[in-house]
Amino acid sequence: STKAVILVGGPSRGTRFRPLSMELPKPLFPVAGHPIIEHCFRAISKVPEIKEVFIVGYYEESVFQPFINQVSTSHPQLSVKYLREYQALGTAGGLYHFRDVILKGRPDRFFVLNADICCSFPLNDMLKLYEDKDAEAVMLGTRVASDAATNFGCIVSDAHTKRVLHYVEKPESQISNLINCGVYLFSTETIFPAIRSAIKRRTERPRLLSYPSSENLDSSFFQGDDDDEDRENPVIRLEQDVLSDIADSRQFFVLETKDFWRQIKTAGSAVPANALYLLKAFQSGDSSLAAPSANIIPPVYIHPSAHVDPTAKLGPNVSIGPRAQIGAGVRVKESIVLEDSEIKHDACVLYTIVGWHSKIGAWARVEGTPTPITNHSTSIIKNGVKVQSITILGKECGVGDEVRVQNCVCLPYKELKRDVANEVIM
Ligand code: GDD
Ligand code: GTP
Repeated sequence: STKAVILVGGPSRGTRFRPLSMELPKPLFPVAGHPIIEHCFRAISKVPEIKEVFIVGYYEESVFQPFINQVSTSHPQLSVKYLREYQALGTAGGLYHFRDVILKGRPDRFFVLNADICCSFPLNDMLKLYEDKDAEAVMLGTRVASDAATNFGCIVSDAHTKRVLHYVEKPESQISNLINCGVYLFSTETIFPAIRSAIKRRTERPRLLSYPSSENLDSSFFQGDDDDEDRENPVIRLEQDVLSDIADSRQFFVLETKDFWRQIKTAGSAVPANALYLLKAFQSGDSSLAAPSANIIPPVYIHPSAHVDPTAKLGPNVSIGPRAQIGAGVRVKESIVLEDSEIKHDACVLYTIVGWHSKIGAWARVEGTPTPITNHSTSIIKNGVKVQSITILGKECGVGDEVRVQNCVCLPYKELKRDVANEVIM
């Protein structure tokens, strides 16, 4: 049998998702009408042999309970449990810590999914490759622009056999534009011994004894990966500490997806993720999307409890959350409008996330800047300064009537009464 583990991290992570992660853990943030992590469950539920799913992280126990209750109702064939790390153990450390629970019932293999990505999760295709190749590990890969590749784990593979020959996490120089999507299928007999050897190597590694003199000691030095820090650091990372070893010695293969894939790191990256999941839902004829019309340019998701004036024009790539109010003559495009927010008549909202309970005044204009979909970054340079391409209004923000907001990140509870551009409003 097969199980699945979803790595969700904890409250000290997801800092780039601020200010939205101040209200809600990133995996629960709604994209295309559903929590980010629910999109993982939709894919997992299409693999008949998966009966058990573990959400592994170091958020408090109670954080995922409402979601688990909901997903257990919508996917009754799955048993879903949250496993809490007492502190960050790293992407492999968490798996190892909970190995007894994962190994219960003797599954021969299990999936591992990073929660902070969006893609079509072709898990059945990964299983097929695993079986065809008699593999010990399969990872999902995708091609990105060469200059973006070094932000990810890079894979050198044999194009013909699909074998992973070499793996380097975030290399300093370009080695390949085939990158690690953060989705794996591991043989239980391979991965746990591989993690155990990584732990052993770490404990036995001879210590470097040359330290810089005290005047060179600055705080940045201690943030590095030096040995002194490792001594108390229980973190074991799949990517840096385990995968390259498996590549060197094992039956390790890569399934290259030609379908969409994006990371969800910054708050702004929820907007392209929303667009990609909406498009996928639209192409598969998902009936929960709004019906196209003169004023609805698909794909658009409108929560049943939202109120949208029939003269408002929405889409493409718009999600409207529960109880949101959209007034007459409003234009919304490429945006996420969250619960209980209100957009007054004739306002225009483009490339923006409107936070919970926020209010946008009449004739206001709140906008970000479009970026190419192949661009794996959500920052752009404006007047020589790096700014977010997506405008974000945190929880309970207000934008006055006729006010223009461009490329701003606005922390919760702010009232914008004058025009602002390219700023973080604190
Ligand atoms: N449970 C747990 N414990 N989860 C963790 C921990 C931890 O200590 N640390 C990270 N995670 C989770 C994160 O929430 C995320 O879902 C996933 O593990 C990977 O996060 P990072 O460690 O921040 O890595 P990354 O996203 O920069 O890079 C990884 O993903 C890329 C694809 O998105 C690597 O696997 C790259 O090679 C890969 O390209
Ligand atoms: P489509 O191509 O069908 O989307 O229509 P379009 O080319 O007319 O443009 P779109 O509706 O995408 O809106 C583009 C611009 O029109 C926006 O940037 C706004 O400046 C303006 N706009 C459209 N409708 C409204 C509205 O109701 N209120 C305000 N304030 N501006 C609007």
